[in-house]
Amino acid sequence: MNESANQSLRHYWHPVAYANQLTNVPFAATLLGESIVLWRDSSGTAHAHRDRCLHRGTALSLGTVTEDHLVCPYHGWRFASTGQCTWVPQQAEPRRVSNKLAIPAYDCVERLGLIWVALEPAREAIPAVPEFNDPHWHRIETGPFAWHAHASRQLENFTDFGHFPWVHPGLLGDPNKPVVAAHTVQIEGSVVSYAYGRPDQQNTEALPVFAEGERKDDLRRTRYWIHLPFTLIEHIDWGGRERMVYLFVSQPVDNEHCIGYCVVARNFNAEQDPKVMKDFESTIFAQDQAIVESQRPYAVPCDPTVETHLPFDAVAIAYRKALRAHGLG
Ligand code: FES
Ligand code: CO
Repeated sequence: MNESANQSLRHYWHPVAYANQLTNVPFAATLLGESIVLWRDSSGTAHAHRDRCLHRGTALSLGTVTEDHLVCPYHGWRFASTGQCTWVPQQAEPRRVSNKLAIPAYDCVERLGLIWVALEPAREAIPAVPEFNDPHWHRIETGPFAWHAHASRQLENFTDFGHFPWVHPGLLGDPNKPVVAAHTVQIEGSVVSYAYGRPDQQNTEALPVFAEGERKDDLRRTRYWIHLPFTLIEHIDWGGRERMVYLFVSQPVDNEHCIGYCVVARNFNAEQDPKVMKDFESTIFAQDQAIVESQRPYAVPCDPTVETHLPFDAVAIAYRKALRAHGLG
């Protein structure tokens, strides 16, 4: 990924943790190569800053939170949620601090069970997933999946139909049915959308995560929305009442690393132990990981001549085109 693409990526919201990973102790994360520290104030509001004390360059994520301030572990300087340093205990008058002494604060919100950060003012909103707030739906967080791969490859892997029978035989695909059915892809602004019906893979005995009760047919109907750069929402149904929604989003840690967050919601199987879904996704992601980590170049190349695209790769073609159009590739 080149420098100008990375510069553009700073203008989007990216996940940096599941909300429940962030407690009352500072949490270290990396976003687009930048070390950041996350913390919560006493009202529970999350904040994000550059993880570097301006005194001697110490990681503030090693510090503590006291009285709604982030406290450096080295000399105890305190920083407010705005980033302003408000307390230097080595001084006789610890509150006498220049208002120039401040660490960068980044936009930070909690949404969809994740903590999101934008390093520069965000150009697009975080997409909504209304099912997550619906009491008839049950939400399960899987992963997170930290890979030695670029976020664009991890996202694209989630969209790739052709690999199901090869990488996930018996779980997501049937080796005897490798043909990818025709599908059309639309690009509207920063959203790439498509629908796909594929022969369903039966549930396995060990990990029965899909609908079985009131489904109407053996076709898994899926609708996908990729929100640039690395967020994907997938709706699944089988023609009946039973539905699933996936939120998959990849954190661009740096040019060669990413962390995937995969949240699944279902309006069936409420009584099933969430561990079944977590184990299912851990199995799928483990199958994909070695493949995707081997891909070069690390980021998906947006120049269409660098790789080989056939018509059934329509989603990948559109994804790259959209990334390029937004200066993200
Ligand atoms: Fe942070 Fe000195 S290095 S207070
Ligand atoms: Co896969």
